[in-house]
Amino acid sequence: MKAAQINKYGGSDVIEIKEVQKLQLKAGQILVEVYAASLNPFDRMLREGHVQKYLPLQFPITLGGDFSGIVTEVYSGITEFKAGDEVYGQAVVVNGGSGSFAQFVGANVKNTALKPKTIDQVGAASLPLVGTSALQALEEHINIQTGQKILIQGGSGGIGSLAIQIAKLHGAYVATTVSEKSKEFVKKLGADEVIDYQAQDFSQVLADFDAVFDTTKGEEINKSIKVLKKGGKLVSMIGQAAGELIKASGITAITQRTIADTVKLNRLAELVDSGKIKPQVDKTFTLVEIKEAFDYLEKDHPIGKVVLKIK
Ligand SMILES: NC(=O)c1ccc[n+]([C@@H]2O[C@H](COP(=O)([O-])OP(=O)(O)OC[C@H]3O[C@@H](n4cnc5c(N)ncnc54)[C@H](OP(=O)(O)O)[C@@H]3O)[C@@H](O)[C@H]2O)c1
Repeated sequence: MKAAQINKYGGSDVIEIKEVQKLQLKAGQILVEVYAASLNPFDRMLREGHVQKYLPLQFPITLGGDFSGIVTEVYSGITEFKAGDEVYGQAVVVNGGSGSFAQFVGANVKNTALKPKTIDQVGAASLPLVGTSALQALEEHINIQTGQKILIQGGSGGIGSLAIQIAKLHGAYVATTVSEKSKEFVKKLGADEVIDYQAQDFSQVLADFDAVFDTTKGEEINKSIKVLKKGGKLVSMIGQAAGELIKASGITAITQRTIADTVKLNRLAELVDSGKIKPQVDKTFTLVEIKEAFDYLEKDHPIGKVVLKIK
């Protein structure tokens, strides 16, 4: 089978499409023929070697985590899935998967679910990490309620575009920050108030919000505190707000670590199949175009997700 692998860390030029041997499944895993796989900023971090600092990995590394496809084999004793099931999930190597930018992936049962039935493999592959991130933030940490006001920073991104839809289905008032080219996109997703982060300072415009969900690199995280009311909640995907500011403002703040588990993947599939949320795919590439796909992700400011069509 073909797999997109690296043997050293670096830019997209270190990626090689290799012919590799059939995968040996580990306990708790299923083998999935990959139809589509999506790129996440984490895949770039892995490729560049940032993950190596806290989790030593052995080369060669197959890149990728998010996948959608069809089960071909299950490890003995697995009852949750069978050959022929259409599934989607996360199988990044740091969580014990085999990496999804390949024709087959070894995926942990605990990070897999039946694929949403009403969308294609590309749409399903765009969802796992971003969808579970948005759900974990909005439904578990923030527990967003009807009538509450939430600021979603980075509304045009993979996580942000789903977070807007989830906040709206819970009846929240949604403000979001995006660049000029994404204004119409987030309005169509349901955003009530759109701020161009390159032209306006959101902390001068918004006040008394119940929650902030920051999906950007978190460089302006301390400013987010200013828009929250006392008792408000701040969830960031990366940034960490200053402890003294959190205390002084009477808010709670967390930096999320997303767990892409079956429970959240099932919930995501239910929301998609009931028409409440829609995947947002910007552009597709093939497996042999993997370098171009990474370059597009890193340089062209996609609106929504970049997906590889593998079969
Ligand atoms: N902690 C975890 O477990 C975990 C899990 C998943 C993801 N993450 C992290 O979460 C972040 C978001 O992930 P993603 O997949 O949604 O990434 P993404 O698709 O690249 O989205 C990021 C978005 O942020 C926007 N943006 C950048 N700077 C901004 C600013 N100052 N104000 C408002 N918007 C801004 C970008 O828009 P423009 O391109 O128009 O600037 C882009 O649309 C990434 O850094 C990722 O590594 C963390």
